Amino acid sequence: MAPTFENIPVEILIINGSPRPKSNTSELIRHVSDGIATQQGATISEFSFLNAHFGEIGYEDKKNSFDELLSKWKSADGVIIAAPIYTADIPGADYTGLDLLDSALEPDIGSVGKYDKAGGVLIQGSAPWGLQELGAQHIIERFVGLHTIPAERLVGRIADKERPTDDLLSASYSFGQDIAKHAKLIKLAYEQPQSERANILLLNAGVENPDVGNEISARAKSAIEAAGANVTTHSFIGKALEGCRHCIGFCGSKGYCQYDDDFSEFLSKWLAADGYLTVVSADVQGQPAIVRRALDRLSEHVFQTGLRELIQNGAPMFNYPKYSRPSGVISYGRRRYGGQTEAIQSLIAHDVHRGNYPIGGRDPHSPLGAAGFVVQVSQLGCDQFFTEAIDRLAEDVADFSNRILTAKKIYYNTIPEAFYASREKMGVRDKEVYKNEFGY
Ligand SMILES: Cc1cc2nc3c(=O)[nH]c(=O)nc-3n(C[C@H](O)[C@H](O)[C@H](O)COP(=O)(O)O)c2cc1C
Repeated sequence: MAPTFENIPVEILIINGSPRPKSNTSELIRHVSDGIATQQGATISEFSFLNAHFGEIGYEDKKNSFDELLSKWKSADGVIIAAPIYTADIPGADYTGLDLLDSALEPDIGSVGKYDKAGGVLIQGSAPWGLQELGAQHIIERFVGLHTIPAERLVGRIADKERPTDDLLSASYSFGQDIAKHAKLIKLAYEQPQSERANILLLNAGVENPDVGNEISARAKSAIEAAGANVTTHSFIGKALEGCRHCIGFCGSKGYCQYDDDFSEFLSKWLAADGYLTVVSADVQGQPAIVRRALDRLSEHVFQTGLRELIQNGAPMFNYPKYSRPSGVISYGRRRYGGQTEAIQSLIAHDVHRGNYPIGGRDPHSPLGAAGFVVQVSQLGCDQFFTEAIDRLAEDVADFSNRILTAKKIYYNTIPEAFYASREKMGVRDKEVYKNEFGY
């Protein structure tokens, strides 16, 4: 039987990161599993960190569970890491397993640009502001390093000695359903040779050292085209772009922003793209302010458009599309450790928010993206690791975007509407528009 989105089998590994029996995490996992079970063809495997040891110092005589973790990870099409917060991060015991996975998988990951697993992170803690988001972000970044697409994240609070709220339980159920859906789409993307040419938006935000930004962008453009995708470029260099001022009454009612500046050009290109590659200078401990300004406005647009659709057309609230567009970041700066990683982390966080598919490339020196220390343009060729990282990341964004687009075309009839984002309105699904594009 030919595969369809509905019948393709996927195995979802659920990793329980709580070290205690009868944990709150286990209760949420029961609802996640029920959600997964609603998806035809989805099966579940499990691994628990409860009493798990990995041959670490002092525990050499205990059963070593690493082979079990590794083999389950390798065979899974989707991986969920569910864990509590222990002082601002997930438990240390979990990190032992994740660190070993990183070492064991690094040789494979360094040589292939394959992103064939969907990742989901579910984090809860008892404190109202218990840094659940921070724990989730750390796992998201581990996923990127392990070539697992961080596709969904759920964070919540379970007050001490109380049961999880019904809202959190039902969100866990939907989270399970969603991870199975992402796993199916990603698996379909690898089921057949890519035939579509994706449109990659190459964003040049090399504003602090434009000579270098321009050179890197030109290099990335060639690599994307050589890998068989099309490129649309957009430069933030020298552009005027107002930040979001939260005057939501205006954009909420009119559907566009009161500031008539470079944003509208950026927005229309962002909507039309199938994948993203962003080049950012990072001289101020992270991304340039203009990128934040653009992303503020992009994301407020998602929310306000959703609200308008509810009020005007009765669409369900939070009925946002899963953009599912691959996205990579190249970051460079004049300081050796001056914020390249932070710039990439911020953009990954934003992509997960949008339902995009962040990928990190193949450079073991900077697993979250391509990061370089470049003072002037003539230095660019001196760091071979950086130039190779740029080329491989550009290639991987192109390849994965072509694959996802091919799957969205071939399996158009069975892939849910949520994966087809409007190319005209932010935050809105519009599957119909792809019919013409795909020639149906
Ligand atoms: C050592 C330790 C540190 C903790 N630190 C935090 C914290 O920083 N933030 C938070 O929200 N909860 C914190 N908690 C509370 C747990 O996250 C909370 O009880 C959780 O529901 C336990 O989940 P489990 O039953 O799945 O293990 C901490 C608990 C322990 C034991």
